[in-house]
Amino acid sequence: MDAIDVIRAKRDGAELTPEQIDFAVDAYTRGTIADEQMSALAMAILLNGMTRPEVARWTEAMIRSGERMDWSALDRPTTDKHSTGGVGDKITLPLAPLVAACGAAVPQLSGRGLGHTGGTLDKLESIPGWRASLSNEEMLDVLTEAGAVVCAAGTGLAPADRKLYALRDVTGTVESIPLIASSIMSKKIAEGTGALVLDVKVGSGAFMKTAADARELAETMVAIGTDHGLRTVALLTAMDRPLGNAVGNAVEVAESVEVLAGGGPSDVVELTVTLAREMLAAAGITDRDPADALADGTAMDVWRRMITAQGGDPDAPLPSAAETHQVIAPSTGVLTRLDAYGVGVAAWRLGAGRARKEDPVSFGAGVICHAKPGEKVTQGQPLLTLHADDASRFDRALEALDGAYEIGSDTSVTGLQPLVID
Ligand code: URA
Repeated sequence: MDAIDVIRAKRDGAELTPEQIDFAVDAYTRGTIADEQMSALAMAILLNGMTRPEVARWTEAMIRSGERMDWSALDRPTTDKHSTGGVGDKITLPLAPLVAACGAAVPQLSGRGLGHTGGTLDKLESIPGWRASLSNEEMLDVLTEAGAVVCAAGTGLAPADRKLYALRDVTGTVESIPLIASSIMSKKIAEGTGALVLDVKVGSGAFMKTAADARELAETMVAIGTDHGLRTVALLTAMDRPLGNAVGNAVEVAESVEVLAGGGPSDVVELTVTLAREMLAAAGITDRDPADALADGTAMDVWRRMITAQGGDPDAPLPSAAETHQVIAPSTGVLTRLDAYGVGVAAWRLGAGRARKEDPVSFGAGVICHAKPGEKVTQGQPLLTLHADDASRFDRALEALDGAYEIGSDTSVTGLQPLVID
């Protein structure tokens, strides 16, 4: 078989055969299809799409490119959550220990931030001593000890996706529903979880800007999971404004700890509890209410065990940035809009995110939102506080915030997405 025949077939709108898909994924992983050929194929897929059998086979080939993890040694069901990414999305931090406190095991492989969306591993690494890289044996030890583990995927897991995602990132081929769905699901299926809840974000701060696109992505991923015997459910949730008040790394850890302590912003609490209920139901656990485990401190106990088991000190002070700058409300009224994308880009430019994969992040950098859409604000009050290690970063962050918020006189804010859309 020849790579050029496969590229031509997809370019001309044909459905790829299982043999063509297996050949393309396997040969690319082994290096016998060149980057330029795979990028042409990825572009043809982006432009012409894939049928359900094609997406299923592509995902299968990516899973087979590496190892599959196995948690059958555990004495409880496994369940996991994947978010398609957003601004202020720290939900994994309170969610994983909360679900573990209710009787399931959570083996979560997470990622780093790139661009304006944050990464769970970057956030957790702001805790002194905490380690993202664990061997499979260490993962099992942490799961046995704490009930939840959040760490980086090893190089043996879906290596085809690792290589292809890096290529898509630099060839304008990320935004393809079949490629995003197969990329996410190949890693989650190889991770070996028994149940999966997908949090598909919709809005300016998300990959999917419209509910229609988000729904198509969600349905594609649920179909892949179901075809592989993985109990998979999806929720569409709002990403038109930031989630919670904190956007960054250490500031998001601090907010997550507030939630585990029974406080925290109401939207973070609501989404954490909603997703916990879905994860537990998907794992067959129906006799525990996650709201109780937040209130009685058992989720916090699991958090402390999980952080300690990965080398972190849950009591150590979190890093903070050297410089702050306040954005002041220019008038009195109601905050009608706080755009997730604008705030995400501001946090990124302050140093919380990275421009290239190899860049370091600043743990202390980020944005604190003092008001959320729908809340009253008074002229002269702080709307946002920007945190950075270096004051020279404020100008470009402020440019990103230009037009990102609006204060109106009307008390009824229209057009805001419900937190859980579907
Ligand atoms: N996250 C992934 O893991 N893969 C994609 O293609 C997009 C987001």
